[in-house]
Amino acid sequence: MERAATGEESSGRPTADRVLVTGATGTVGEPLVRKLTDGDASVRLATRNPDDAREQFGEGLEYVEFDLGRPETWGSALADVDRLFLLYPPGSAVSDITEFADAADRVGVEHVAFLSILGAGKLPILPHRRIETHLAGTDLACTFLRASWFAQNLSEIHRAEIVDRNEIYVPAGDGVLSFTDARDVAAVAATVLTDPGHRNRAYDLTGPAALDFHEVAGVFSDVLDRPIEYADPSRLTFARQMYRRGFSPGFVVFMVAEYSVVRLGFSGRTTDDIETLLGRPPRTVREFVADYADEFRA
Ligand SMILES: NC(=O)c1ccc[n+]([C@@H]2O[C@H](COP(=O)([O-])OP(=O)(O)OC[C@H]3O[C@@H](n4cnc5c(N)ncnc54)[C@H](OP(=O)(O)O)[C@@H]3O)[C@@H](O)[C@H]2O)c1
Repeated sequence: MERAATGEESSGRPTADRVLVTGATGTVGEPLVRKLTDGDASVRLATRNPDDAREQFGEGLEYVEFDLGRPETWGSALADVDRLFLLYPPGSAVSDITEFADAADRVGVEHVAFLSILGAGKLPILPHRRIETHLAGTDLACTFLRASWFAQNLSEIHRAEIVDRNEIYVPAGDGVLSFTDARDVAAVAATVLTDPGHRNRAYDLTGPAALDFHEVAGVFSDVLDRPIEYADPSRLTFARQMYRRGFSPGFVVFMVAEYSVVRLGFSGRTTDDIETLLGRPPRTVREFVADYADEFRA
């Protein structure tokens, strides 16, 4: 796999093939669907609950029931599909997704954009890397989107403590993170799925700067105009608190591992791949907090 394409390579006539979006209802999938349907792409939304998805997006789109764990749903999802946005739903079996990729290959899907994780290329133990390796061994043209930690985790996981206690409660020490806005990841996915020139490439998607959580709390305080503190609990205290808040044991272990990596200083790398691909800088954490401010005030 090569690294980022140049703007010249990525510009070209958009194609209007059918795109199957897995994870269509999720953090990246939702803005991706909206972006693709703003253009002239023909989009099919894959979800376990088409009725719920219809409520989310409205009528006039193509919905299909799709569950990675139920191969009987794969055929209608993949029928007449040219391109695929593929994500690994947290907690799914890697074998389900690799078998689904093989099915996509068999029925003639040409191109897959796979949502991966920053650093996956160097971590063969990661499920995302195992999926990348499998995809690279198929006949599918692949684009790997290796994203850093989404700014949206701050609203989806940490909103309650920010709203209720005016604190960001993560055990990350003074470690820095190159927060990516999931809306930028979606915009990149739309670009690579509709413009030529991105096949068999891997992109490292990060925000423009690495911030520690003291700085993040400062941004929240400025934008929301009230003091938000960074709590920095011990990992054990954090794990206990997250269990109490109802997160599953597996997810709590995953979060502790993630924040340990941040704490050790391995999560701060920034790249210019988003700017190269989109022709504009990636969104900052300040823009994210401003855009989602109402959620943090509720
Ligand atoms: N959060 C981060 O900071 C971050 C950073 C880099 C990469 N990633 C990676 O991004 C991926 C998650 O993407 P996301 O955050 O956009 O998703 P998300 O918001 O966590 O939503 C999960 C999506 O997966 C779908 N899903 C769940 N179980 C499924 C199943 N059995 N079969 C088919 N679909 C299923 C859900 O769709 P329905 O409920 O509609 O079926 C939903 O749309 C993960 O692989 C994660 O490791 C996350």
